[in-house]
Order: sequence, then C-alpha cells, then structure tokens
Amino acid sequence: MPYSEQELVSSKTKRTAATYPARLLAEMLERKTFETPTTRHHLIVGNSRKMSEVADNSVQLVVTSPPYPMIELWDDLFQQQGCQSFSEMHNLLAEVWKECHRVLVDGGIACINIGDALRKDNGGLRLFPNHSRITEHCENIGFTSLPFILWKKPTTRPNAFLGSGFLPPNAYVTQDCEFILIFRKGPPRSFPPKDFTRYASQYTKAERDAWFTQIWNVPGARQETSALERRNAAFPEEISRRLIRMFSIIGETVVDPFLGTGTTMKVAKELYRSSVGYEIDSRLVPTITERLESLPTNDDTASLKITRRDPLL
Ligand SMILES: C[S@@+](CC[C@H](N)C(=O)[O-])C[C@H]1O[C@@H](n2cnc3c(N)ncnc32)[C@H](O)[C@@H]1O
Repeated sequence: MPYSEQELVSSKTKRTAATYPARLLAEMLERKTFETPTTRHHLIVGNSRKMSEVADNSVQLVVTSPPYPMIELWDDLFQQQGCQSFSEMHNLLAEVWKECHRVLVDGGIACINIGDALRKDNGGLRLFPNHSRITEHCENIGFTSLPFILWKKPTTRPNAFLGSGFLPPNAYVTQDCEFILIFRKGPPRSFPPKDFTRYASQYTKAERDAWFTQIWNVPGARQETSALERRNAAFPEEISRRLIRMFSIIGETVVDPFLGTGTTMKVAKELYRSSVGYEIDSRLVPTITERLESLPTNDDTASLKITRRDPLL
C-alpha cells in the first residue's frame, strides 16, 4: 500500500480545496509516498475491427470518436471498406463496438463522441441519427446505456441557419451539439475501502459540478495547419481529459479504436494512464508520435510501442 492511513485521513480534511487532487498527487510523488505508475502506450497501425493485440477483460475505459456515417468527409473511407448505405456504415462500426465490449473489464465504460448527419434528400434535408443507431447497436451487443453528454460547440459559421430569412415552415434547427454517448459493461465496478489510488484520482467539487452535467460548453480543437490534421476532425484535449478523469483511475488503461491525431493517447499519458490506440491511416503516425513526445519524459514511463498491421486484417 503506497499511502499511509494518516495521509488518507489528512487528505480528506483538505478535500474542499479546488486544487486538492492535483496537489495531493504532486506532493505524494515528491515525497515518494506514491510510486509513479509505469504507463505503457501501444499504437497499432491497422483496422480496429479486430483488436487482437488486446486481451479480453483487460482495459477499464474506451474514449473515442469514429468516422461519422453520412458525413461527406468520411464517405471515401466507408466506401473503401465496402459500405454504401447508412446501415452498412453502422454495421461496420458495430464490429468495433463489439471488440470494445470484449476488451473492457466488467464495469468498464465506453465513451463515444458522435454527431448526427444532415444530408440532401427528397428536395430537402434529412437527418441521419448516428447517435441512436450507435445506442441501438451497443445495447444489442450487451452494453448498458448511461446518461449521455451533449457537447455544445461554439458556432464557427456566422450564417449556420439553414432556411430563408424569417419565414416558416421550412427552416432547420441548427446542429450545434454533438453527443458523447456513455455505456457500461455489466454492473458498476467495486473497490476495497479506502483504495488509495482511487482517492488520489478524485476530482474536485468544482470539477464534479462542471463535468457531471448534461451540457458541456467546450471550445473546438485548435485546428493545426496541416490539411491532414484538419481533415481528421480531432476533438479537443479537454474532452478526453474530463472523460479519463471521470471514468478511470491512475495506472489503468484507456483504449481509442479510432485514434486519429492521438488526442486520447496524449491525454492518457499526461494523466498517468496507459493507452492502446488503433489508427488505420499510417500518414497520422508522425503526428501521433510528436504529440506523445511533446510531454515531459519520465524514466518510469515506457515509450511508445508501434505495431504495423496489414490494413486489410
Ligand atoms: C473522427 S477521427 C478521430 C479523431 C480523434 N479523436 C482525434 O482527436 O484526432 C476518426 C479516425 O478513425 C480512423 N479510422 C477509421 N476507420 C478505422 C478503423 N476501422 N480502424 C482504425 N482506425 C480507423 C480514421 O482514419 C480517423 O483518423
């Protein structure tokens, strides 16, 4: 046990301070009463339909954002994998959700960021409700649905309104929210009383009040200059940071089956969690590597391991 009973008790008396968990952890690392967890990071350049590198019941959290069905940006990627229709695209994603269910421990959580799509149809526009299809698939796989988060994105376009002037009835409600769907595998996890790593991972009251609410106002990711990164629709680090702190404990493992530019992996490393990421597009490897290397290195922290697979596997 890396913490003494006395430290645990005194930590409880200080709990109201806004900086409490971060300060406690920093103090414990300094005084060497808490061993720095050795975290490992594994990038698999390949298709996450099969996550054979990850054992059954071995990870505690999934944080991800898949390619969005029926959003033009991702048409080619779905077509390359033999999917034309909305249902075919979701059947493909469901294979990945099934793998996520397999690798999660009982009580493990999956957080899936997804937006609905609006596309021309029958002389007007039609909504393709990606969030409800994913929920349906995940429930069929055996996940339990939990209350979701609506990520309200600041409107970047001044003329986002789709309609003519102020005349009813043919205008469309602006899509300024995305979903963060949350699922659990089986019943909630249980812990021994006073589990210190769990206590060292706690959030503050201010964080709890802001995070465990259904609407999040988080600014979008700062778009990098390269077309590759823009094309990739990265989510902001703050989204990963909140979800990892809400649903995992220091030293545990987070998986992102659609890693993109590596946001989840970078934040996991920063928060002393191990990570596994799958990315089918090998052109993103330098970006992911640079982001991980931008963090201060720690002798106890293993460097990034990269496995390259045949993308057709
Ligand atoms: C919406 S982006 C993820 C963005 C990421 N959250 C970030 O912050 O950069 C989806 C990513 O999934 C990748 N992808 C799509 N299908 C995949 C598959 N079957 N296996 C692995 N990666 C896949 C795409 O190449 C793309 O980089």
